Amino acid sequence: MASNRGQFSSRLGFILAAAGSAVGLGNIWGFPTQAASNGGAAFLIVYLILAFCLAYPALMAELIIGRHAHANASRALEKISATPRIARIGHAVGFAGLIVASLILSFYAIVSGWMIGFFVASLLKLFGLILSMFLFVLRSSTAPELVHIVVVQPAIWLETFSTPRNILLMSLFMVLTIGIITKGIHGGIEKWSRRLMPLLILSIAGLAIYVLTLPGAIDGLKVYLLPDFSKAIAPNLLINALGAAFFSLSLGVGTMLIYGSYISDDEHLPSLGGWVTATDVGIAVLAGFLILPAMYVALNNGVEIFSASGQLLSEDTLIFTVLPALFNSMGTTGLIISTIFFLLMTVAALTSSISMLEVPVAYTIENTSVSRTTTTWIVGILIACISAVIIVNFDTLFGLVITVTTRYSQPLLGFMFCIYAGWLWRRDSLLKELQKNHPNAENEWFWRIWPGYVKVICPLIILGIFYQSL
Ligand code: TRP
Repeated sequence: MASNRGQFSSRLGFILAAAGSAVGLGNIWGFPTQAASNGGAAFLIVYLILAFCLAYPALMAELIIGRHAHANASRALEKISATPRIARIGHAVGFAGLIVASLILSFYAIVSGWMIGFFVASLLKLFGLILSMFLFVLRSSTAPELVHIVVVQPAIWLETFSTPRNILLMSLFMVLTIGIITKGIHGGIEKWSRRLMPLLILSIAGLAIYVLTLPGAIDGLKVYLLPDFSKAIAPNLLINALGAAFFSLSLGVGTMLIYGSYISDDEHLPSLGGWVTATDVGIAVLAGFLILPAMYVALNNGVEIFSASGQLLSEDTLIFTVLPALFNSMGTTGLIISTIFFLLMTVAALTSSISMLEVPVAYTIENTSVSRTTTTWIVGILIACISAVIIVNFDTLFGLVITVTTRYSQPLLGFMFCIYAGWLWRRDSLLKELQKNHPNAENEWFWRIWPGYVKVICPLIILGIFYQSL
């Protein structure tokens, strides 16, 4: 029953939580750098079209199934199945989503840990600055050594790739994620998303305005806003934009389905989903106004952002080399900006990671009698162990796990969700779900277009991406 499950207390609470899940490292870094290397404005246009025409309908499939079943993905797909065999397959699809969500979290936690590392290192350096000034006033003779031991060494350790550092930071990030999830829907997910999301939007906007005043920024802005059609016809543009939109809205693993299951029956689902999509896309576009100009400011300051062949350096190199180099070139202001930026990345990662952990946690709670707190710790520690294995075998496993989960599993599972919503769920029962407290749903544009769309167009496009990526 819905009554003893958690529920979002308000419309805004849900929108912030679901948008928090959608907005993550993918939007703030992935989208802008992909835009930069795929023709700038041309990528932006294709991404916008695909986000609303493919990702939004697929998101709606998950939200509607989720709210109808008020259960985790496995049980939800079982519930809407007409025959025992379709139900068994549904259960398996939900379970596969759970595994994929856990694996996505296991690499996401590693990258997010690096964000924490850069955040703490910036904070330490700020502290070092204040400490130096203080010691200077006191005319202390041990000042340089003291600052070196207390600030410089730990900061370098935090910023340098090593197994112990990666494990420590990943564990820290997992503990934060677990801490929020143990508090449940209302007190944990909703409360934190409410606090963190507005902070995130304000920080990106503030940073973007600042960066736009720096020399070189306008070149970045031009790349972002003036389409380069010679690059736009590149064969990868469409696939990349599709993948970006799909990953960005957290689709295919049951994350949005489980969030949908916590929405109250009073809400108008099509507009809720629309808000989430608009927020997600809006933040990605906003982040573009920060990242692209920042890259060209870095270029202006002598930082390499293109390889000899004119290709943009790879995404991870960019974020962990270019941005710190940019911040360094800006003196004390840069230190403050760096602190805010990496805090912001950590925040964005956290509102996404909680949505990933909620998938296996909800499944376990709903299938056993174990409490939320115990379940969260056990599942969280298990995922941290997988992360540790990836860290220890970084060169072989890291890229592999990302490819298998995001490039292959997500589109395939997303395809299955559309098949369940479009073909295997009875149309009248689907309509009933939409009509809850909104009797006019049958006459709305959404019901005229969406059922056929999710049945045919979405699966075809997703299959197309999957086929291409092979
Ligand atoms: N959408 C998030 C981002 O852009 C990541 C994310 C959260 C995700 N939950 C997910 C991705 C579930 C895939 C599946 O960073």
